[in-house]
Amino acid sequence: MNIRVFDNEAQAGQAAALVIGAQIVKNPDSVIGLATGSTPVLAYQELVRLTKQGILDWNRVTTFNLDEYLGLSGDHEQSYRAFMMKNLFGKVNIQPDAIHIPDGMAKDPEAASLAYERTINARGGIDLQLLGLGRNGHIGFNEPGSFFATRTHVVDLTEDTINANARFFANPSDVPRRAMTMGIGTIMQAKAILMLVTGAEKARAVRGMVCNPVDPQCPGSVLQLHANVTVFLDRPAATAMYHCQ
Ligand code: F6R
Repeated sequence: MNIRVFDNEAQAGQAAALVIGAQIVKNPDSVIGLATGSTPVLAYQELVRLTKQGILDWNRVTTFNLDEYLGLSGDHEQSYRAFMMKNLFGKVNIQPDAIHIPDGMAKDPEAASLAYERTINARGGIDLQLLGLGRNGHIGFNEPGSFFATRTHVVDLTEDTINANARFFANPSDVPRRAMTMGIGTIMQAKAILMLVTGAEKARAVRGMVCNPVDPQCPGSVLQLHANVTVFLDRPAATAMYHCQ
């Protein structure tokens, strides 16, 4: 793992945008895996800025998002599709049919999961996958205890994740209980992985990911087994990592 600690989350986010931007500049036909949540918002702002400056061109880029809530349609304001449209896709020149996000309203989510996986493979796999890290160490919606070999599938969210996401919903009981997510096996198949983690509430998960042996109880720790992982942290997220012993 190549780990870099930045002074603050703005710097970490800008640096993440530079890595994604460099991938697109280097290969205009890149297949990029993307994440939602609070963490990547600054990176997406920077990507929009670089695009508006004419530095980035999304015309030939393909994207696959990690996950989506089940039971929310793409126009529900808390759906991950709506998040992506608001923060990135609605502001850059990506082709609408190059955007892939699991369908939260799929009639048969298991079949839709298989189809999602097939589409990723048909596009030649993911060149660069952006990840965040859950407070409990999850990646995508692969919660502690997930099998490392899983492909895109349907999951029940843990109480911890439901509580963490409740801040985005008017009523905690509105938070969906299930989601469709790329599996750990899908994520590990990406050619390169960029993980962005900010904030003190993630320090414990960061420690579990980088200091401890690989453990399904901290899904992020599986990244120790990937040959091309970059982790960008801000100082608060890095605090517990300095005392690995
Ligand atoms: C989002 C995702 C999640 C988040 C994680 C951190 O697509 O797959 O794993 O990356 O829950 O979320 P934030 O950034 O909101 O702390």
